[in-house]
Amino acid sequence: MFQLKKRDAAGRIADWIIKNQKITTPTLAVVVSPNKQDISPKELKQKFKAELIITNAYIIKNSKNRKTIEEQGLHKFYDWNGPIYTDSGTFQMYSKGSAKIGAKETIQFQQKIGSDIITPLDEFTLPTDTKEIAEEKLKTTIARLKEAKQFVNTTTLFNGPIQGGIYSDLRIHAAKQVNKINPDIYSIGGIVPLMEQYRYKELVETIISVKKNISVARPVHAFGCGHPMIFSLLVSIGIDVFDSAAYSIFAKKGKYMTESGTLNFNELEEFPCSCPICSTLNKKEFTIPDLARHNLYVTFRELRTIREAIRKGTLWDLVETRVTSHPMLYDAYIAAQKHNKYLSKQEPISKKRAYFYLGPESKNRPEIYAVKQRIKRVNINIGTYKWMGLNVPSGMHMTYPFGQCVIPGFYKPKYKIDSKDTVRSILQFQFGKDAKNIITNTTMIEKSKKTKRIRRIWDNKTLLGTLRAHDGFFIPTITGASRIRSELKNKDYSVVVDDDVSEFAKNGKNVFARFVKFADKNIRPGDVVFVTDSKNELLACGLSAMNKKEMKDFDEGVAVHVKHSTETSDK
Ligand code: GUN
Ligand code: ZN
Repeated sequence: MFQLKKRDAAGRIADWIIKNQKITTPTLAVVVSPNKQDISPKELKQKFKAELIITNAYIIKNSKNRKTIEEQGLHKFYDWNGPIYTDSGTFQMYSKGSAKIGAKETIQFQQKIGSDIITPLDEFTLPTDTKEIAEEKLKTTIARLKEAKQFVNTTTLFNGPIQGGIYSDLRIHAAKQVNKINPDIYSIGGIVPLMEQYRYKELVETIISVKKNISVARPVHAFGCGHPMIFSLLVSIGIDVFDSAAYSIFAKKGKYMTESGTLNFNELEEFPCSCPICSTLNKKEFTIPDLARHNLYVTFRELRTIREAIRKGTLWDLVETRVTSHPMLYDAYIAAQKHNKYLSKQEPISKKRAYFYLGPESKNRPEIYAVKQRIKRVNINIGTYKWMGLNVPSGMHMTYPFGQCVIPGFYKPKYKIDSKDTVRSILQFQFGKDAKNIITNTTMIEKSKKTKRIRRIWDNKTLLGTLRAHDGFFIPTITGASRIRSELKNKDYSVVVDDDVSEFAKNGKNVFARFVKFADKNIRPGDVVFVTDSKNELLACGLSAMNKKEMKDFDEGVAVHVKHSTETSDK
């Protein structure tokens, strides 16, 4: 089970339940070896707060500890009671050449040793592979996945690797095929050489073409990606799981990781880090395992930083800080913005924090793309003003991001705009042109005595809605919602629920994704939406937590946070 909790950009925080154990994504599966493990799984858990480890069936099969593992099982052997993910041996067959493990053999073996997430033997596709070869390998991979799915027991999670090399049509085909197999987790394979060669733009293109073609209700793993410098960018386009052997491989090569790149340990006079290792050891005392520990501390710190940024709604700010540390990362970020139409569908329409302009690339964030589309439908004729090169209708001056922004050199003009026209503009922005019609001669606008800002919108003695203080969005009452609906096309901004749960919605309970029968494609996370039954009767209104595809794909989690409902509110 994978349940969406918080979101920002196209990134998300989710609860991922693996055999009754809950972990939080975005997460890191720490690679552990059956042979020599410098940092014990116990230490991983206690000192690093690791929640998931990953180990390799092929390495275990050839390990001196194979017998012990077969007898004891993985959990006892590693002394780890959390979930254990196993890889098949694909990558080792590619990097070590001759060694082999069979397709059926690896599944049976992973099952036997008690893995919680099993990976079939995909065919590692290189960026240098010709299209013919990539296609051939993909056929083999898909055939093996189909077969493997048959004999993995249903309590164990099944990983669906997606190959296809650098050919976007093959990646799309692979994503669609693997999606049909319905795995519990998707993994994007064959990307290690792209990362090693700093080909981040192709990496981003690959991930986005895959993401567009798979269910949004399952975690997605970037196979072999363990450098924290690219985590925030990859999370912002929808990666949920990373794995790291890099912390240890880099340490052996004397490489000191930071969230903005890699340094040579030997060249450092001081350590730009305050992890328990760097703040206590001097250079001479550092062993290779200590360097590995530092690398892992940085890796986990970056994941916590990312999750906090998602909670605060500042993931783009973090991404822009990180990508400017390497030209190839910056290039990849700019390439990702070519997919703004897609990315903006997952982007919350409003945020709790002000929009920060951090450089020219901030102008092209998906969140700005989204509002550019929306202001096109604001046609209240009260003038416009310049805002980051856009002509913004003056009535939007209170609303996110126009009213809540920090842009050097931009000063908001002083406004004397009719309050009704401001509310009309906001209504058009949120719901479309005709929503403005609910504001009439009998409308009364109530302002805060202290701040003079618009607070409530009345029609005689009936409250139609309020303007939310932090972002200037119109939050209708049930009466307001029903008046807006009468101005719109039937299902605009509507979420139709199963008639079995209409009583719950009417009584103010949140709407769960599982019960959504239909959702308007224009709905974005954070939008005000109308919850109706199959006969188009309004049951409630609230804030959407998901877009259309998410409401369709997810079986778990809240789709609409209900604010007002017909049986309970403002009657
Ligand atoms: N580890 C790194 N890359 C890959 C891959 O493409 N497939 C599998 N199974 N494991 C990997
Ligand atoms: Zn450190």
